[in-house]
Amino acid sequence: MQENITEKLLEWYKKNKRDLPWRKTNDSYYIWISEIMLQQTRVEAVKVYYEHFIKKLPTLKDLAIVSEDELLKLWEGLGYYSRVRNMQKTAKFLVEKGMETLPSTKEELLALPGIGDYTAGAILSIAYGIPSIAIDGNVYRVLGRYYAIYESINKKSTYTIYSQYLEKILPKEKAGDFTQSFMDLGSQICLPKSPKCEVCPLSDRCMAKKLNKTQDFPVNMKKKGRKVEERVVLILVCQDKIAIQKRKEDGLLASLYEFPNFLATPSVIDVENSLLEQNIAFDFIEDIGQCKHVFSHLEWYMQGFKIELRVPLEEYLWVTKEELMYKYSIPSAFSYYYEYIMKL
Ligand code: ADE
Ligand code: SF4
Repeated sequence: MQENITEKLLEWYKKNKRDLPWRKTNDSYYIWISEIMLQQTRVEAVKVYYEHFIKKLPTLKDLAIVSEDELLKLWEGLGYYSRVRNMQKTAKFLVEKGMETLPSTKEELLALPGIGDYTAGAILSIAYGIPSIAIDGNVYRVLGRYYAIYESINKKSTYTIYSQYLEKILPKEKAGDFTQSFMDLGSQICLPKSPKCEVCPLSDRCMAKKLNKTQDFPVNMKKKGRKVEERVVLILVCQDKIAIQKRKEDGLLASLYEFPNFLATPSVIDVENSLLEQNIAFDFIEDIGQCKHVFSHLEWYMQGFKIELRVPLEEYLWVTKEELMYKYSIPSAFSYYYEYIMKL
């Protein structure tokens, strides 16, 4: 017998599902793009990126052949750039095999770069309607609360426990609606901080609600602290151009462009002295403020300086504001300084 949580989720979803651009299609190529974008990025932010991306690269083949710089530009601001690089690897691989869209079995999907259990399950259920589970943060929150599951979600073995709960309530039909009902319930009703239990379709059987302990679930043992780095960021300006450089091909923010920056915590005077020591001719130097960027394992505390140079330094690429806007991908870690430049 199907447990009544399934019915309630599907019924609620039918009435309350959000009108989102990737819900207008069943094409697995589009579903895949949306799911990759939605990992680590908010729905509201993804909407615009998604529409733009599918307009520029409407087919798997377009993705396979687009240049890396253009591809990274389409992803600029979404962060976690390895996601889009893996997408292109996958696209190339599939196109070479003569495929026009993504495969429809779990094994084939899992063999592709960047596709793990969650993404495979989401594509199978949403694009192909194949009953398949997809566990994301929303599922952890809704199920963790509904069943009052005490295992900590950051332990590997806990994934199996949630899978078993989810398999048990997975319907044979409407698998895509089922998957997405967790996403919508989790982001509109079963909110992390203050869940709206009074309007939740699951409230009459929800264990956490019954125990008056919604805040205790899902159980999550504290995450490890992030490494902290203090960096100085230089906005070098010369004859209306700005200095950027390409990052290394591997590691953090690989192959993206950045403003010159390095580990240091200098004052204006320190920067000035350093320029003088290196015989670099400049007209003006200004403190343009501090900002912070949080990566998954790292935090950057940045101090920016704008320096007007008399002669461009050869080691950098000198670009106009327009080129910065349309041609080069500057990661959002630098958005504070990027915005600053746009206002110059
Ligand atoms: N988050 C991840 N996938 C989603 C989807 N298909 N709809 C809404 N939010 C999501
Ligand atoms: Fe979440 Fe409250 Fe609904 Fe339980 S009743 S699933 S805690 S919103």
